[in-house]
Amino acid sequence: MKPSVILYKALPDDLHKRLEEHFTVTQVKNLSQETVAQHAEAFASAEGLLGSSEKVDSALLEKMPKLRATSTISVGYDNFDVEALNARNVLLMHTPTALTETVADTLMALVLSTARRVVEVAERVKAGEWTKSIGPDWFGVDVHGKTLGIVGMGRIGLALAQRAHFGFNMPILYNARRQHKEAEERFNGRYCELDTLLQEADYVCLILPLTEETHHLIGKAKFEKMKKTAIFINAGRGPVVDEKALIEALQQGEIHAAGLDVFEQEPLPIDSPLLALPNVVALPHIGSATHETRYNMASTAVDNLIDALNGKVEKNCVNPQVK
Ligand code: GLV
Repeated sequence: MKPSVILYKALPDDLHKRLEEHFTVTQVKNLSQETVAQHAEAFASAEGLLGSSEKVDSALLEKMPKLRATSTISVGYDNFDVEALNARNVLLMHTPTALTETVADTLMALVLSTARRVVEVAERVKAGEWTKSIGPDWFGVDVHGKTLGIVGMGRIGLALAQRAHFGFNMPILYNARRQHKEAEERFNGRYCELDTLLQEADYVCLILPLTEETHHLIGKAKFEKMKKTAIFINAGRGPVVDEKALIEALQQGEIHAAGLDVFEQEPLPIDSPLLALPNVVALPHIGSATHETRYNMASTAVDNLIDALNGKVEKNCVNPQVK
């Protein structure tokens, strides 16, 4: 008999078919208590779990006593209680390589759109305000040649450094848990303390996972360290930034602008003060959201679950010690 799995995210047809070749699949719309109660038997017998953007905590795991592997269609796994998974010997698989280049593109898009005020001036054109040759009140600031500070030098940080170094001739500062030879040798990156980076960078780009250590890493004191002309970009996880402090920094002119793909609460509430600020570009967490990359992530996640439930875990596993 094929193992049973719960799928909590729609998949492209061919990937759904691939999953069904290996497993008996129950598709649900989310992992809410109501959904779990509605499909109690399927959850109780499932050995695998596949999806994204839902909390997987010990309350859910209690309803899934047969679970052996979870597979998330994401690189980030802050939605998962990893300790609870470890305690139950449940593998956690993710997609660390499929989205690197696409998220780096998103970061560059945020840098360019905040610097050149792309969204704001395009809105003005649509509103019929382009009635004469533009003056300085429509001007932006340069990107090329400015100093880029990258906080978090993982795969995505490196791909951003590559774009900035070769494409935009930007000197690169970075802060990370350890020095990164590749960033230094290939892209001339200079390792520095976080405070030094914040003081010296024209663009501060955050691309960090959310952990206990990174929660609210950037707050009031950190924004005060940045240049008044600094542009702040976050495409990692919202809660790494104290959003209230960010709003105050923008309102009080502590920093020049912000480009944000992630927020403390997603979807971003419509009454967020961020949305009233013309110098903020707010995106709906599109980091990896291209057709090609989302397909590749879903395909990797399906393969990850097949490997995990067949005892063939060689890569893409957060807690390989569990196997
Ligand atoms: C996106 O935010 C991801 O973690 O894949």
